Formats: sequence, structure tokens, C-alpha cells
Amino acid sequence: MMPKVIGVVGAGQMGAGIAQVFAQSGFDVLLLDTNEVGLQKAVQSIRTSLEKFAAKGKIPIDAVADIMAHLRTTAQMSDFAAADVVIEAVTEDLKVKSQLFKSLDQILKADAILASNTSSISIAKLAEATQRPGKVIGMHFMNPVPLMPCVEVIVADATNDTTFETIKGLVTKLGKTMVVSKDRAGFIVNRILMPMINEAAYAVQENLASVQDIDTAMKLSCNFPMGPLTLADFIGLDTVVNILDVMQDGLVDPKFKPCPLLLDYVQKGWLGRKSGKGFYQY
Ligand SMILES: NC(=O)c1ccc[n+]([C@@H]2O[C@H](COP(=O)([O-])OP(=O)(O)OC[C@H]3O[C@@H](n4cnc5c(N)ncnc54)[C@H](O)[C@@H]3O)[C@@H](O)[C@H]2O)c1
Repeated sequence: MMPKVIGVVGAGQMGAGIAQVFAQSGFDVLLLDTNEVGLQKAVQSIRTSLEKFAAKGKIPIDAVADIMAHLRTTAQMSDFAAADVVIEAVTEDLKVKSQLFKSLDQILKADAILASNTSSISIAKLAEATQRPGKVIGMHFMNPVPLMPCVEVIVADATNDTTFETIKGLVTKLGKTMVVSKDRAGFIVNRILMPMINEAAYAVQENLASVQDIDTAMKLSCNFPMGPLTLADFIGLDTVVNILDVMQDGLVDPKFKPCPLLLDYVQKGWLGRKSGKGFYQY
């Protein structure tokens, strides 16, 4: 049966986008974040995004209010007892996510699915924090969620077929394209993307070329829509470092060790677009 109520935990860049696309597709969405200000910002960013779609004629202007009516914020995890599927999009940290999975597992209906939007963390490890490993799956959306058509679905050994089929149905209902990956750190997208971003950071560190020229070279030579450093700023440099750390541990390979320049930027609070400075100034 098609799920009706979707819970989203974490209302940062990804959680807000995920909540938006489900509300746009007619689902009832519950959005939770521990940061009350962040939660209100997320609602505002969803409204602004919908208004932009309306201004471009992609959705009717009167649809904005209808879509917003499908979205409810909450600070109470107990409200998630009504959810059929919960998608977790909190900070890329195994401890934080595991703790959350443990709490959610105790609150959710027995047949509810617990999905993670993790970029790299093992779905099997997250499932260990629950009593429902068959109902745990990876659902990795791309940033910005309302615009990016791909969803990487990560199937762990214990994930059962019903869970997979339900998630496949959801991706189709959202009008997005699914790719399926095994449960190895970084899955498909970040396994290939993160080493490139890390190498681009080394190129900056070694003063091989300017930030602009590195991005221009990759855009115009590889036909990428944006260069790796622009993309890194967009993803968030803290998230890039977290993903590389998870891949280094999970794949037991030092080639994924974050470049010192990235670590330095994160330490200075230069996190990219979200903090106003990264490789570029915003
Ligand atoms: N940024 C990207 O481009 C991108 C792309 C795909 C996947 N992801 C993944 O999505 C997840 C979220 O990334 P993001 O970029 O949205 O991060 P973000 O920093 O923008 O947002 C994370 C949010 O989680 C909230 N949070 C943290 N712990 C919480 C908890 N215990 N309960 C409720 N809320 C909590 C924070 O307050 C914050 O609002 C990460 O796993 C990341 O790897 C990110």
C-alpha cells in the first residue's frame, strides 16, 4: 500500500527539500528538527522555493498554499507514531543517527519504514540500532532535492523486498529516477564524487591553479554543470569532510583521507554557501 504520512527528521538543506517534494506530491509531511529556528527557516525556504516554481509557471500560484497545508512541523518525536515512512536527514554522524534510529524505532508503528538520507554511512550499522532491520533502507536524495532527479536507494543485506518495493513506489510517485546501490560506504555517487572534490582541494592547497580556473577547467573540459569546488561549497565542507571520514573508515583506505586544507576551512567555520564562505565568498 502506498504510504500516506511521511516523517522527515532534520530540517537542514536536505530535510527541507525532502519535506517539500513529498508535500508537492500530495503526501502529508511531518518535519522535525531539534533546532526550532532552523525548523522555521526550513518552512520559509520551502515556501520561497514553491513561490519560485509558481513564478516560473511550473506550478499554479494557488497550489503553494495547498502544498504548504500538507506540511506540519513538530518538536515532538511522539508525533511520528502516525508516520508510514520516516526519512532521517540529520548531521552525517553515525552516533547521532544511531541514537535517533533507536528512539524512532520505539515510537514508530511496527510496519513503518525507517529510511536514511545518509551520504555514506552503512545502512546495516543504522539498522543495528533498531528492532526492524528488514524495514531499514537508504534513500539518498541529491541537493537541491526539488531540482535533482536522481535518488540512490541503498539496500542492506537485511532490507526486505516489501520495504524496497515501497520505497521504489515512492521514488516513482515523486517523479524521480531510482538507482540502486549495495551498502558500501559512499554508495555510488560519493564513492566517485568525493575523491574528485578532495583532489580539487589538494590542487588548491598546492596552488596548482586558482579556485576559479580549477572549476572552469572541470566545467568546460568535462562538461560538468559546475566545478568541484563550487559543488563542495554547495554540499557544505563539513559534510564533505564527514563523508570522506566515513569512507576512509568504511572502505579502510587512506586514499579517502580529507585534504588538510578542507579540515582547516571547516575548523575556521568556512563551511561553504551555508556559512557565507568556503572556497568562494557568498
Ligand atoms: N548537503 C548535501 O549536499 C547532501 C546531499 C545528499 C545527502 N546529504 C546527507 O543529508 C544529511 C543532512 O545533510 P544536510 O546538508 O541537510 O545537513 P544540515 O547541516 O544542513 O542539516 C542537518 C540538520 O539536522 C538537525 N539535527 C541534527 N541532529 C538532530 C537530531 N538528533 N534530531 C533532529 N534534528 C537534528 C540540525 O539541527 C540541522 O538542521 C546528511 O546525512 C548528509 O550526508 C547531504
